[in-house]
Amino acid sequence: MTERVAVVTGAAAGIGAATARGLAASGYAVALLDVNECAAVEVAATIAAAGSAAVAVQCDVADEDSVRSAIAAVVERFGRIDLLHNNAAVFLGLAGGSDGLLESLDLATWRRTLDVNLTGAFLCTKYAMPHLLVHGGSVVVTASVAGALTGSTVSAYASSKAGLAGFVRSLALNYGPRGVRANAVCPGTVLTDMSEHIRQTPELQRRMIDTIPVGRMATAEDVASVVVFLASPAAEYLNGVVVPVEGGLLLT
Ligand SMILES: NC(=O)c1ccc[n+]([C@@H]2O[C@H](COP(=O)([O-])OP(=O)(O)OC[C@H]3O[C@@H](n4cnc5c(N)ncnc54)[C@H](O)[C@@H]3O)[C@@H](O)[C@H]2O)c1
Repeated sequence: MTERVAVVTGAAAGIGAATARGLAASGYAVALLDVNECAAVEVAATIAAAGSAAVAVQCDVADEDSVRSAIAAVVERFGRIDLLHNNAAVFLGLAGGSDGLLESLDLATWRRTLDVNLTGAFLCTKYAMPHLLVHGGSVVVTASVAGALTGSTVSAYASSKAGLAGFVRSLALNYGPRGVRANAVCPGTVLTDMSEHIRQTPELQRRMIDTIPVGRMATAEDVASVVVFLASPAAEYLNGVVVPVEGGLLLT
């Protein structure tokens, strides 16, 4: 019951799965929350097979009842929460890699994007915070360069990610004094299912890689290792920062 416990949302795939593996390797028991329970169970099984404690919990982060019962299940299983990684998100993308010009961006897409990406982080943090406050801990959020760059479209996704940066800063101000730090990672394009539409268009992929100073897209592990660092004692004086993990893209 004294092992540190991490909750990772969207942990069935991509960055969340890589972060769950990285946190387990650095000594955490991990709870993998995802709407896709089967895939989360598979990732948890690989972590458990490597010798760490891991549990998959079905959770839709946009649904308050689902979040409440998922956090309760984690506390029942592991007894505490030391780290929350708010990572689950959707990119309800259209052809060409955008989620819509204003004229074509419908209200349902806007609402679902904000509900999962931004309200989901609010709900998970709201229900995890009482547990984080018990021993002190931290919150890490996965934002995106999409929330920092000026894109050529009006994007629900970009708006949700810009909102997360503000959310993290307000958490840092309000809960830093009570022992809970909050920071964000801000990835560029990462080789996961979410960016599959880019890889399906080689010309778009080439153009995007050409804009990245390090000359490649990120792996999920590139991002996960920064999340693990932000959660670690080595980062205990970092609070309220949004760390770019984009190979220098934001400099261009
Ligand atoms: N892939 C990229 O290029 C990229 C770039 C910048 C930021 N990000 C961010 O990184 C994070 C992880 O994305 P990824 O690239 O690993 O994507 P991914 O699609 O591989 O994984 C996302 C996971 O979130 C889960 N999920 C979706 N809706 C959910 C919900 N309502 N409740 C619970 N789980 C839900 C999915 O089932 C999936 O397992 C997201 O916040 C994303 O916005 C990704």
